[in-house]
Amino acid sequence: MKSVGIIDFGGQYTHLIARRCRNLGFRSVVIPFFSDIDNEIEKENIGAIIISGGPRSVDEDEKFIEIVKKILEKAKKGIPVLGICFGHQLIAYIMGGKVEKRFKSEFGETKINVLTNDVLFDGVPKLFTAWMSHNDTVTSLPDGLIVLAVSENNVIASYRHEELPIYGVQFHPEVAHTEYGLDILRNFLSNIAGLKSSWNPTSVIEKIIDEIKTNYPTGNALVAVSGGVDSITTAVVMLRALGPDRVHVLFIDTGLMREGEADFVKKALVEMGFKNIHLIDASQRFINALKGVSDPEEKRRVIAEKFREVFEEALKSLEKEYGKFVLFGQGTIYPDRIESGKAGAGSTKIKSHHNVVMESLRGVTMIEPLADFYKDEVRKIAIYLGVPSRIVVRHPFPGPGLAVRILGEIDEIKLGIIRKATRILEEILMEEGIYDKLWQAFPVLLPVKSVGVKGDSRAYGYIISIRAVESVDAMTASFAKLPWDLLSKIANRIVSEIPEVVRVVYDITNKPPATIEYE
Ligand code: XMP
Repeated sequence: MKSVGIIDFGGQYTHLIARRCRNLGFRSVVIPFFSDIDNEIEKENIGAIIISGGPRSVDEDEKFIEIVKKILEKAKKGIPVLGICFGHQLIAYIMGGKVEKRFKSEFGETKINVLTNDVLFDGVPKLFTAWMSHNDTVTSLPDGLIVLAVSENNVIASYRHEELPIYGVQFHPEVAHTEYGLDILRNFLSNIAGLKSSWNPTSVIEKIIDEIKTNYPTGNALVAVSGGVDSITTAVVMLRALGPDRVHVLFIDTGLMREGEADFVKKALVEMGFKNIHLIDASQRFINALKGVSDPEEKRRVIAEKFREVFEEALKSLEKEYGKFVLFGQGTIYPDRIESGKAGAGSTKIKSHHNVVMESLRGVTMIEPLADFYKDEVRKIAIYLGVPSRIVVRHPFPGPGLAVRILGEIDEIKLGIIRKATRILEEILMEEGIYDKLWQAFPVLLPVKSVGVKGDSRAYGYIISIRAVESVDAMTASFAKLPWDLLSKIANRIVSEIPEVVRVVYDITNKPPATIEYE
């Protein structure tokens, strides 16, 4: 099946473009601009290329020019190219057009006038509203490119090449504010590139299950589950492929988990038909290893190292009992690969670890059946495979657990506080029917104390910060505008039920610049 490759120049909408293409039924992959483009096009069977937006100007880096020239060569070989925003400017510039700051910037909704009939605008009215976000503008087109549409400010909003399958749009068809944006993308992918729109996560997962079944006809498989939807869905994929006798699930209690987590996970696993469930309580080992550690990166490193140690010990003892393990399944999903620096142009390392726990294990093949999916696609797969809904709707929970939600050094008392606060917050959000509407919501224990009054006396205790965000893929997020009454209820319950806490604050920062987790 041919795919669409989105060349990532670090634009904020790159992943949105990828997701929109998938929603339309086309397999999409994000290709960082610095990768070996020829190789990626070959490997991923690319039949259409989209050059995404980016925060820079066309003449800022010679490399951009080289890359886009290479991509335009592909158009000569029949792979259609669509430039969006910065991509639109780059193509025009490289072919000899002019890109300038001369015009006033356009941000937000703008009317677009379609001037000629072109297949890119099939089914789109001559006048429609589109989302613009640019400082630079293509002010004149080179020979070979013809204007298809202009904006109300008379900016060249779209062009095409006279003969080659090369197109540009200055506006963002992927953004919901652009009317007919999806029609424009579909026209490009289907009518211009001839791609088939038959991709969907559930049919792909069936293929993955079949492949695992065929490629690993014998031997045991191990999956480490955390209680989150990604690892549990991975385990269920393995279960479907290999059956309950061959799949072993391992739950390592790090002591950094939410209240009652081990029981919650065990119950769910039994319900889903797993037979070999191994629970290991390693909490004391993790807590001891974290003594005196307050630096966030160091905490993550210590936890990852301890996890690997406990995991390898567990594997050894399981092998003694059950014989050789040939496979290890890990719940890595697409955004994990990006955020841990394995894919995507925005891949400077922000935080270590994330979901990519193990790079390799001696003698055991590691597979990541969900590595190409976004979270909402994993949830669709989970529902399809019969994962209970209480797991499917669960908010993401970081691998290093509550350790990154207690700022600075952790101890048992702080863990107790944050566990209670987490339970209270989740209870309220569920009661109020708000939990499912949020990407994530959790309390964070700040490493400072403050004065309050409890009963009639002075109290000196901790401050809890509440983080609640809306997001589609955690790459960007905005803080949730929760109602005052709800916030007040949360603060009242936390302060009255947790003696060590005297104050609750609400975090109103978006990502970027803040990350979702605090460490
Ligand atoms: P940040 O804090 O980077 O988080 O904005 C983005 C998303 O990733 C989750 N997260 C993690 N998940 N292991 C995980 O499994 C980790 O180390 C980790 N750190 C952050 C975070 O909860 C959010 O959903």
